Amino acid sequence: MSGQRPPLTRRSFLAGSAAAGLALMTGCGTPAASGPPALQLRPGPMTLDVAGTGARTWGYGTVPGPEIRLRAGELLRVRVTNGLPDDTTVHWHGLAPPNAMDGVPNVTQRPIAPGSEFTYEFRTPVPGSFMYHAHVGMQLDRGLYGPLVVEPRDEPLAYDREHTLMLDDWADGVEQHSRHTGEEPGTSAISDAREVVSFGGRRYPFLLVNGRPPEDPTVVEGRPGDRLRLRVMNVAADTGFRFAVAGHPLTITHTDGMPVEPVTVDALRLGMGERYDVLVDLRQRGGTWQIGMEPEGRSGAGRALLRYTGSPASTAPPAAHRPSELDGRLARYDELLSTEPLALPSGSPDRVFDLTLEGTEISGQSYPDADPLPVVEGEWVRLRMRNTGAKWHPMHLHGHHFQVRTPSGRGPVKDTVAVPAHGGEVGIDFLATNPGRWLFHCHNHHHMADGMVRLVEYRS
Ligand code: C2O
Ligand code: CU
Repeated sequence: MSGQRPPLTRRSFLAGSAAAGLALMTGCGTPAASGPPALQLRPGPMTLDVAGTGARTWGYGTVPGPEIRLRAGELLRVRVTNGLPDDTTVHWHGLAPPNAMDGVPNVTQRPIAPGSEFTYEFRTPVPGSFMYHAHVGMQLDRGLYGPLVVEPRDEPLAYDREHTLMLDDWADGVEQHSRHTGEEPGTSAISDAREVVSFGGRRYPFLLVNGRPPEDPTVVEGRPGDRLRLRVMNVAADTGFRFAVAGHPLTITHTDGMPVEPVTVDALRLGMGERYDVLVDLRQRGGTWQIGMEPEGRSGAGRALLRYTGSPASTAPPAAHRPSELDGRLARYDELLSTEPLALPSGSPDRVFDLTLEGTEISGQSYPDADPLPVVEGEWVRLRMRNTGAKWHPMHLHGHHFQVRTPSGRGPVKDTVAVPAHGGEVGIDFLATNPGRWLFHCHNHHHMADGMVRLVEYRS
């Protein structure tokens, strides 16, 4: 269907778990010397066919890389063999592994040198929709990413099929290509520039869904009456997306893998690093429907297709068809109610940090010339962010799930939160239960490279 490798089966993970589990107990998280690794990732140079361009890029064999799927509580065990001409690491975005497995070069591990390998190994007790990606420099802006799904032991949702859609902005190997302009709309076209939602300003010729451009789209299939689960993930470097399915409302069940009371909307807004799980009832009688996405604050479009089984290919909408649902109802964070809120104690947090997001600085500092945020194990920590700039910033915390502060007191539990521009304020709470040194950064890779990063550092 999408030209990807078939998903890894659960069996291949189980095969490695007995020996690896033993190693975990004896080796304290160091890579096991014996036992077959469950999964190999081989980052290396490759060619991606983007609308006939033959783009030279770096990837894990395919773009996206192979799906990693396991069951809550199982051991994730991945051997990474570096075939790149550069150092690399793999970060498990949204998971909360022990610090040494977090994949941040020179913070949690020595980078994996060209030609060498490293085995990541940790348990994954929390189910959800996650991603893995390289975390050295701008490598994630190439094809070095893939989906990671942890299934619950007992799936509480009923659905007939599921699909993962990874939304990306693409320039690697096609920079000279002059397609979608990627220009920000001129202020003449916008009555109030403050209303333009924009997460970045770079030029990306292509917007891809599962590595495919609009003229060669991924196709999702189902029958009338089916209920689909879509795991929608924004893995772009510089682009926040609006996402909708023509003719089909979306029922949000999870944000960043964590469950919320179901809310039905027309469209999603996803900052970079954010994920939404939605249920889609196939309530039409047939045909092929546009799964549309467009960048916030820029021109351009990407798409996939929803095809009712048996509908002829001729029913596909043109690549440029824009679902009107893109302009419909979105859910704000304060409309999402967590069904599994964090166990925050009563009273007030042990530690509060007030951070100003200004340009690509955090409170006037650029990493690595930036003060760490010290915390102590067991504390309840609050980060209050105020964004004085013109870009939205999707702020991501490694190693923890946090709760977004909303008037309901039951805001969504997430790992990446978009802080609106022009004075937008967002507060998040987390429990300091995972010792180590953890990155907290903007998931706009350009902003991250500019130093929009802090370390959350456990101290005793
Ligand atoms: Cu997707 Cu530092 O993370
Ligand atoms: Cu940013």
